[in-house]
Amino acid sequence: MLTKIKNAKPSEPKRGAARGFSSPAEHAFTSEFLDKGYSIIPLEHKDRLDAVRSTIHALACEHLGLKGAKRPGLSEFFDHTERHATLEGLNGLRLAVINGLNADPDLMPGFYGMARQFIEWTVSNEFAVQRGINLSIQLPGDDSSLLPLHSDVWDGNSPYEVVLWLPLVDCFKTKSMYVLPRRRSREATAEMRSLKGFNAEKLFARVKPELVWLDVPYGKAVLFTHCLMHGNRVNEESTTRWTFNIRIKGLLTPYGVKELGESFLPAAVRPATRIGFEYAEDEAK
Ligand SMILES: [Fe+2]
Repeated sequence: MLTKIKNAKPSEPKRGAARGFSSPAEHAFTSEFLDKGYSIIPLEHKDRLDAVRSTIHALACEHLGLKGAKRPGLSEFFDHTERHATLEGLNGLRLAVINGLNADPDLMPGFYGMARQFIEWTVSNEFAVQRGINLSIQLPGDDSSLLPLHSDVWDGNSPYEVVLWLPLVDCFKTKSMYVLPRRRSREATAEMRSLKGFNAEKLFARVKPELVWLDVPYGKAVLFTHCLMHGNRVNEESTTRWTFNIRIKGLLTPYGVKELGESFLPAAVRPATRIGFEYAEDEAK
């Protein structure tokens, strides 16, 4: 099946053949994504992001007992969470926020709705999203929640998945994440497979000059294939990092350790696919 897809010549119109049925904007985006394995995308409906941030501010202040004159403004709270929460209390804060957000059934559709066009261009217009939302908070100097250089597929996640990494603050330098662009990621993965005793730190030192630290201002997000090597280091900037990450994959592409129904939920299913599923079910009765 995969070989057939790889070797098949795309059905192309006679004019503008190089980009097939894609619009110029889609062709430019997908060409770049195939080359680099990631893209920094502008979010649509930024008012939704503002609303999520306001909700989180309220949930967090309530959890931390920050009332009246003690209640920090929104920018002060997100930039300087380290002034209002302890490292020990961070996981409790994170869970309080996630539980509060999950009470809103429109939360997940709201999130992928902000990147819908790019998700469809990258993945498919029929896609599944992870059931739960991941929130990460990294205080300045915090070395307790680091992600060493890795690819999620090494742990059995599907190589067909992408990650939407969406910050609630401006992310830059060590406050951001890094990626090893696609060509080098593929080469380094091959090198790693051929060498025994290669750990993440040794690999990090080897590829460090080629890593790209992503500059992602509030209002933008990163869409990347987690086949790429990526990770973060200690946040050496003076402000706190708040980020969401959401896994998304083509509904009908192969699943890894995170399965449909368990970890993934269908988010967009077209009528022809539904009818096909129902026909197959009827036939099996
Ligand atoms: Fe990862």
